[in-house]
Amino acid sequence: MKGIEAIRRDFPVLARYVYLNTGTLGPSPEPVNRRLIDLYLDWEHNGPGNPENYGHMHEATGPVRARLAAWLGVAPEELAFTANATDGVDIVAWGLDWREGDEVLISDQEHPAVFVPWLWLSKRLGIKTKVVKLSNDPKVILANVEKAIGQRTRLLSFSHVSSMTGLRLPVAELSRLCHDRGVLVMYDGAQSCGQFRVDIPATGADFYSLNGHKWMLGPVGTGAVYVRRDLQERVRPSWVGGGSTSVCDYPELGRFEFPDTAVKYEFATRPWHLHVGWGYALDYLDGLGWPEIEARVRKLASLLKERLGAIKGAQVLSPTDPTGATGLSTFSLEGWPFDKLYEALNKEHGVVGRPVWELNAVRLSTHFYNTEEEIDRAAEAVARLAQTRP
Ligand SMILES: Cc1ncc(COP(=O)(O)O)c(C=O)c1O
Repeated sequence: MKGIEAIRRDFPVLARYVYLNTGTLGPSPEPVNRRLIDLYLDWEHNGPGNPENYGHMHEATGPVRARLAAWLGVAPEELAFTANATDGVDIVAWGLDWREGDEVLISDQEHPAVFVPWLWLSKRLGIKTKVVKLSNDPKVILANVEKAIGQRTRLLSFSHVSSMTGLRLPVAELSRLCHDRGVLVMYDGAQSCGQFRVDIPATGADFYSLNGHKWMLGPVGTGAVYVRRDLQERVRPSWVGGGSTSVCDYPELGRFEFPDTAVKYEFATRPWHLHVGWGYALDYLDGLGWPEIEARVRKLASLLKERLGAIKGAQVLSPTDPTGATGLSTFSLEGWPFDKLYEALNKEHGVVGRPVWELNAVRLSTHFYNTEEEIDRAAEAVARLAQTRP
């Protein structure tokens, strides 16, 4: 990995803030932004609608799909580009065939990206959404899921890493448990991809959604969904149009067919340049090296939790053991409502985190570009606030 000072020069935001909110949106490295801006200007200057020009832009997403698929350990035909992680959840939710009374398991630590689509399907289609309680102990999670699975359970839809506490779930074991009982599995990888490498087959997922704009540091508006090859027949495309068909004989025969790949979940004019830009972000991250990125994320988060845990009145709510811990550190502070705490850190101390209203807490995310000094600054800010009240 290149030196931390050189890395930090690629992220001008770090000169302004103690930026600890990659979990909401990761800043794209400057070299990635420059390549993307050059690409975009070139596209614009050649006429965005010039067929050869936009054809090239569309084609340029092909190698990115292949590259991303290889990174995730899946086939390119199993990945559809989306605009965010939520798109993937919706594509699968609306694509499967449901009967009234079918059940979906979600956890009690889901982002609206997961719980809103399922609650909406419950209202619209009469399925049931059951909430399973998570725990920092993987054995308890597995036991709770096992208890929750019933005759009508069709799917488990959990985040791979909880956005509330940063808990990393025992996904491989969960998938085995579900598959043994005939239950399909979908994980939301919004908080996992990029803070560590995700090998989708190793997670056992049947479906996996992700985005490029958090830990992968790609442009805002990038995402993908994995639909396992043999399940693509069962996940029918719900939003269709130009680009989603392989054959279209309209108006003569009115015949159309979908391709037998995940491309059938894509349709219409797309922000292809953003997906190409996501590829640039992958170039950057690959150049740093994944073992180095992962080790640094682990080290910084563990230091942050240790420092926060030592502050009187602060309570670390995120797991600290190596199997469950990630780069997300959520904590509460006695006497401080989450919104005031978040605001005071941001406005008075330049520490950018994210409120976690469900737990009356604040979440700080540490990526490889953060430093021990920034963790000291954040911990000192919390220690100072601990001595006052809002
Ligand atoms: C676990 C989780 N899933 C999904 C999302 C939403 O991501 P997107 O806006 O890319 O759909 C978030 C965003 O914070 C998240 O933390």
